[in-house]
Amino acid sequence: MSSRYAKIPIWKRPLFWLGAFILLAIVVLAVVLPVWFVVVKPHHSGSSSAAAAKNASNPESPTGAVTGGNGSTVVMDDGSSFTYINPFGGFWVSDPKNPYNDSAQPNSWTPPLNQPWTWGVDHIYGVNLGGLFVLEPFITPALYEATGAVDEWTLSTALAANGSLESTLENHYATFITEQDIAQIAGAGLNWIRLPVPFWAIQTWDNVGLNATSDAPVAEPFLPQVCWKYILRLLGWARKYGLRVEIDLHTIPGSQNGYNHSGRLGSVNFLNGVMGIANAQRALDYIRTLAEFISQPEYQNLIPVYGIVNEALLTTIGKDQLTTFYLHAYDMIRNITGIGEGHGAYIAIHDGFVGTASWKGFLQGSDRIILDTHPYFAFDGQPNDAPIDIPATGGNGTTLLGGQWPSQACSAWGPGMNASRGNFGVTMAGEFSNGFNDCGYFVEGAGLQPHAGGNCTMWQDWESWTDDVKAGLMAFAMASMDALGDWFFWTWKIAPSSITNTVRAPQWSYQLGLENGWIPTDPRVANGTCEAVGVAPQPFNGTFASWATGGAGAGEIAATSIEQFGQFPPATISNVPAASLDLLPSYTTAAPIITMPPLSFSAAATVSAGNGWDDTSDTAEFVTTISGCAYPDAWDAVNAQVPLSGCGATGAGAQAAPSTAPPAAPAAAPTTTASGVVPSTTAAAAPTTSDGAAVASSDTASDTSAAAVTTGAKR
Ligand SMILES: *[C@@H]1O[C@H](CO)[C@@H](O)[C@H](O)[C@H]1NC(C)=O
Ligand SMILES: *[C@@H]1O[C@H](CO)[C@@H](O)[C@H](O)[C@H]1NC(C)=O
Ligand SMILES: *[C@@H]1O[C@H](CO)[C@@H](O)[C@H](O)[C@H]1NC(C)=O
Ligand SMILES: *[C@@H]1O[C@H](CO)[C@@H](O)[C@H](O)[C@H]1NC(C)=O
Ligand SMILES: *[C@@H]1O[C@H](CO)[C@@H](O)[C@H](O)[C@H]1NC(C)=O
Ligand SMILES: *[C@@H]1O[C@H](CO)[C@@H](O)[C@H](O)[C@H]1NC(C)=O
Ligand SMILES: *[C@@H]1O[C@H](CO)[C@@H](O)[C@H](O)[C@H]1NC(C)=O
Ligand SMILES: *[C@@H]1O[C@H](CO)[C@@H](O)[C@H](O)[C@H]1NC(C)=O
Ligand SMILES: *[C@@H]1O[C@H](CO)[C@@H](O)[C@H](O)[C@H]1NC(C)=O
Ligand SMILES: *[C@@H]1O[C@H](CO)[C@@H](O)[C@H](O)[C@H]1NC(C)=O
Ligand SMILES: *[C@@H]1O[C@H](CO)[C@@H](O)[C@H](O)[C@H]1NC(C)=O
Ligand SMILES: *[C@@H]1O[C@H](CO)[C@@H](O)[C@H](O)[C@H]1NC(C)=O
Repeated sequence: MSSRYAKIPIWKRPLFWLGAFILLAIVVLAVVLPVWFVVVKPHHSGSSSAAAAKNASNPESPTGAVTGGNGSTVVMDDGSSFTYINPFGGFWVSDPKNPYNDSAQPNSWTPPLNQPWTWGVDHIYGVNLGGLFVLEPFITPALYEATGAVDEWTLSTALAANGSLESTLENHYATFITEQDIAQIAGAGLNWIRLPVPFWAIQTWDNVGLNATSDAPVAEPFLPQVCWKYILRLLGWARKYGLRVEIDLHTIPGSQNGYNHSGRLGSVNFLNGVMGIANAQRALDYIRTLAEFISQPEYQNLIPVYGIVNEALLTTIGKDQLTTFYLHAYDMIRNITGIGEGHGAYIAIHDGFVGTASWKGFLQGSDRIILDTHPYFAFDGQPNDAPIDIPATGGNGTTLLGGQWPSQACSAWGPGMNASRGNFGVTMAGEFSNGFNDCGYFVEGAGLQPHAGGNCTMWQDWESWTDDVKAGLMAFAMASMDALGDWFFWTWKIAPSSITNTVRAPQWSYQLGLENGWIPTDPRVANGTCEAVGVAPQPFNGTFASWATGGAGAGEIAATSIEQFGQFPPATISNVPAASLDLLPSYTTAAPIITMPPLSFSAAATVSAGNGWDDTSDTAEFVTTISGCAYPDAWDAVNAQVPLSGCGATGAGAQAAPSTAPPAAPAAAPTTTASGVVPSTTAAAAPTTSDGAAVASSDTASDTSAAAVTTGAKR
């Protein structure tokens, strides 16, 4: 905490340094004493203190675990090494005999993975690993510059055209985020990672319906399953450094929001339009596969939160429809995990961009649901050109910069977050950033024009930023952190553009801000920023409703809610005429369950790897297409014609009169053979019997599922 701040003139004032010295002294004592007594002393009682403090390995551990604190050397898989820097008392643990060892701790004030996390007392200081497993133009611009793609669909198509899809994406998964990044996250005083994953980590379908123009079957172009082993590797690193993880299912079949980060830029086909129910059925399967995986005892400490659908577009889909889906997914997951604290992950749902307040009273009595909100001024449709390099509005004029932005963050977000903790339950910001405007390469244009008063040039060019601009961004970041309380910055890293070879969306990179002085090196310093800019604290009193954290009453959902939302699929689907509801296409349950393979262990391991499926009594089959049905393209079906028969009508609107249904779609015979109509994974996943029995048995299940997973995909 030295040279970085020294570049900022305003921090040079004596009062700051006096405060900093006192804080440093407290931090050093808080860090050194526990580390000395808990970690160092028992293992190194004979060695000299200086050497021991720098190298906390404990080869004498009965399990053979190796651990290290600040200054220790970490040797990576490829043989190269780095020095672990963690001034906050964190230490890593790598245990060859037990790769599921949960005793690491990212810092002294965060409980190690194997001790309870207390909501409202412990606070999430987190970052997203955006762009790692779900690619976005502004996070990895070089891939998009090379192809002219706009989303992962078109990127995958372009790369597949010359046979470089698998090699390009695998190289990206392998290199974009390394073990050293994860170590740096722990060393930055952070304690959680939000990990966006795509549904194609599990499966793609090679026929999701017929193209309305060409009548040809549409195949999902995404690279299936290859990222899974990198997801497992990442989870292993998070465990090693003591970082808790929220797994976030970031893409949903058909797209849940039409944004490019949903996989495909375009229309919303999840719970919306003609294929809305079918896509939702498929989504439930993938939600179940991941729920079964993370509910294994080996993962419950590591992954305490599961975000089941990222950023569903509520204004298009409808709140009642989403609530019905969430209640159904909740039932499905809690059937696996059981009810109450200690039984599986919290389930996070996004606020649908309508703010936390409108979720007051949601499913009262439900067991451990989290409300996730993504507050960004960048996309508020305002010019957002007010300066940030001037004294903070509401501050005392001597310390904080930031102009209007810190107080705006505090007043726009703080009271709502605090109120929601009382009105809803656990509430967090799964995303926020330093983008107070929508400037940034490949970000620009997402918000409505005009952005930054029409000139974004300097915001792409961080090398030109003055110390005052950095100090202003720092204050905005700190105010945001203080207002949000439990937060994940979006995102840890932005890769350089291949044209300039520099990061062009710098407001979105936590790592770049840490290295260059506009992100605090200790997030705890954010505490009190809102008060310092005159936004009176309206604190949450710290007591959640008991059911909201899995205590008394958990799982006893109000009867009125069950009555209103307990029937899936929902009775109406947006953008479908009432008369057609009865005829909406659906899928049938006739496909084998897909389980995800566990971590591959070294021979030294003495614990079981698990089989990827926690609940052996959960044997319901997966959905698949109904043979003979001519489904419209599931990714482009909002205005498609409704097939009149043979497509497993859901009866979503039992009252609708079929006679008024729109004219029949041309009876397009599938251009492929009958087996081609069936998703490829279904056809190929022979080892799992179609009645799902193989999953219910124990030891062979992991082999079986691994085989199904590796052989399942067509592309
Ligand atoms: C995990 O590693 C720690 C730290 O090295 C060690 O003390 C402990 O015995 C290990 N725990 C298990 C369950 O293997
Ligand atoms: C952490 O380790 C680094 C490198 O060994 C050292 O320079 C630094 O002083 C240490 N910090 C603390 C707080 O021990
Ligand atoms: C600790 O120091 C020893 C040598 O003193 C070295 O061999 C070992 O790799 C170090 N361990 C760690 C975890 O840095
Ligand atoms: C494939 O095409 C992409 C751009 O579309 C290009 O970047 C890449 O170098 C090409 N790879 C090969 C092997 O031709
Ligand atoms: C559908 O067919 C049209 C015309 O052949 C083509 O331009 C379009 O890219 C196709 N869409 C998909 C999703 O394959
Ligand atoms: C959950 O389990 C109950 C009891 O077995 C069952 O009736 C219900 O259908 C299940 N719900 C879901 C969504 O799987
Ligand atoms: C905290 O607030 C909740 C609702 O907002 C209330 O039910 C509870 O009684 C309050 N607890 C305390 C200790 O004030
Ligand atoms: C992708 O979406 C972002 C955010 O929605 C938008 O700013 C950007 O322009 C899009 N990128 C491309 C290449 O379409
Ligand atoms: C935009 O701002 C940059 C400096 O940040 C300036 O050099 C450039 O002239 C401005 N462009 C326009 C069109 O005003
Ligand atoms: C902020 O500091 C106050 C005491 O100064 C403390 O009570 C509170 O828990 C802190 N909040 C966080 C989020 O650390
Ligand atoms: C101004 O506010 C800061 C907190 O932001 C405080 O540390 C400082 O003492 C205040 N200075 C004066 C002169 O009140
Ligand atoms: C919200 O409550 C926390 C304490 O729980 C407090 O630190 C923070 O200042 C409050 N935010 C606002 C804007 O009142």
